[in-house]
Amino acid sequence: MQAKERIILALDVNTEDEAMTLVEKLRGHVGLFKVGMELYTAVGPGIVRRIQDLGGSVFVDLKFHDIPNTVASAGRVMTRLGCAMFTTHAAGGTRMLTALTQAVREEADTLGVQPPLVLAVAVLTSIDQRILEDDVLIRGMSVRDVSVRWASLAKAAGAGGMICSPLETAAIRAECGSEFELVTPGIRPQWTPRHDQKRVTTPGEAVSGGADYIVVGRAITQADDPVSAAKRIAEEIEQAEGEPGVK
Ligand code: C5P
Repeated sequence: MQAKERIILALDVNTEDEAMTLVEKLRGHVGLFKVGMELYTAVGPGIVRRIQDLGGSVFVDLKFHDIPNTVASAGRVMTRLGCAMFTTHAAGGTRMLTALTQAVREEADTLGVQPPLVLAVAVLTSIDQRILEDDVLIRGMSVRDVSVRWASLAKAAGAGGMICSPLETAAIRAECGSEFELVTPGIRPQWTPRHDQKRVTTPGEAVSGGADYIVVGRAITQADDPVSAAKRIAEEIEQAEGEPGVK
């Protein structure tokens, strides 16, 4: 994998025109485009096809969390859409995750295509220890320990990887091994503003810490020159890839 292929560009816009302008500009410089709730709900699934028509790979980030049958059906739709990866909440539990990963495999077999990578979301980075205990009512475990346990359940249920905080990648990697794909948001190169992100990691630190892919939004989309920002990030990743132990 080339360094730039580890970059997932977050298309955090709500019109097709804005999204496609970013895709056209950056398609040779990043690995995937992330279509999240805002863009998908604003313009619909056709955006996935339009990006693919330009040769882009798509990560659909809708974080499915529902009863097993409903999530499995949504997984079949994702497979027919041909996205490269999509998300579900690990908190949905083993039955939901197993139903989903089985449905994706079956649908991909029927179509004769590669199944998309099912990524389970660990504890959201917006949830701290207090919220975990007082609102989610999970007590006696740290946020990190819950994420590692969920990663292990998700892997056993057939998920291909996890979305997690860069603070959790090393522990999840140790638990789940090198085949499990880890994707981390909250990335800021040293040369960009932090915006509203509080705990940030540089691209190099994220990859050194065990991330396979990094989700980057504003550090690229709001740069004066988005293409050179993407190139600089790829260079930082490449340097980190030279370090011992990096996959
Ligand atoms: O612009 P920025 O790089 O902060 O965008 C990060 C992207 O990653 C956004 O699409 C955001 O929703 C997503 N994300 C995040 N933190 C999480 C989960 C997802 O920043 N814990």
